[in-house]
Amino acid sequence: MKFFIDSADVGEIKTWAATGLIDGVTTNPSLIAKSGRKFTDAIAEICDLVDGPVSAEVTATDVEGMIAEGRALAKIAENVAVKVPLTWAGLRACKTLTEEDTMVNVTLCFSANQALLAAKAGATFISPFIGRLDDVGEDGMALIRDIRAIYDNYMGLETEILAASIRHPMHVTEAAKAGADVATLPPNVFKQLIEHPLTEKGLAAFLADWAKTGQTVPRK
Ligand code: E4P
Repeated sequence: MKFFIDSADVGEIKTWAATGLIDGVTTNPSLIAKSGRKFTDAIAEICDLVDGPVSAEVTATDVEGMIAEGRALAKIAENVAVKVPLTWAGLRACKTLTEEDTMVNVTLCFSANQALLAAKAGATFISPFIGRLDDVGEDGMALIRDIRAIYDNYMGLETEILAASIRHPMHVTEAAKAGADVATLPPNVFKQLIEHPLTEKGLAAFLADWAKTGQTVPRK
């Protein structure tokens, strides 16, 4: 499974990219607003920090506007993935942009039929929003399972399932079991993935016992 960081905070992205475990970044207009940065500057900096896809979202709602914004965003760096919403205009823009070899992330997916349409439009990524479905009493993970089953039925559908709106580590485990290709994680959730009290307790015990030996492990 690939891990993307769901953030527009350059400092946080830099910190987690240093682990070598980050395969890309997703941003959205709300995250850009939260960062307080100029959109294009933030995207350019993030694209320098990671080799993988960096999603930058259009805000036009008409096809021509989305295509124009998408083309401009794609010029920022080779690893920009233009993010478009799951609307008819978004799907038409997706088709045009992918035909121009631009990566496209179709966002705000809440149904399997929407995901099927995005794949037919040539989307590079489909972003089902797990947490927001859970928030309204639906089963976000069931949507990931449905999309996986549908995409696996058709050889021609190569769209990657990008599990989005992830709220906690169990979402990551379940999305991986359901066959999501990518999970985009808020930095706090990425940090939580490694945490287990028995790991900390076990390490403390090993180090305490080792200290009693008075030895050091050779470094060359
Ligand atoms: C994905 O690309 C979105 O930016 C994100 O996952 C949305 O998550 P939220 O529902 O926590 O805002």
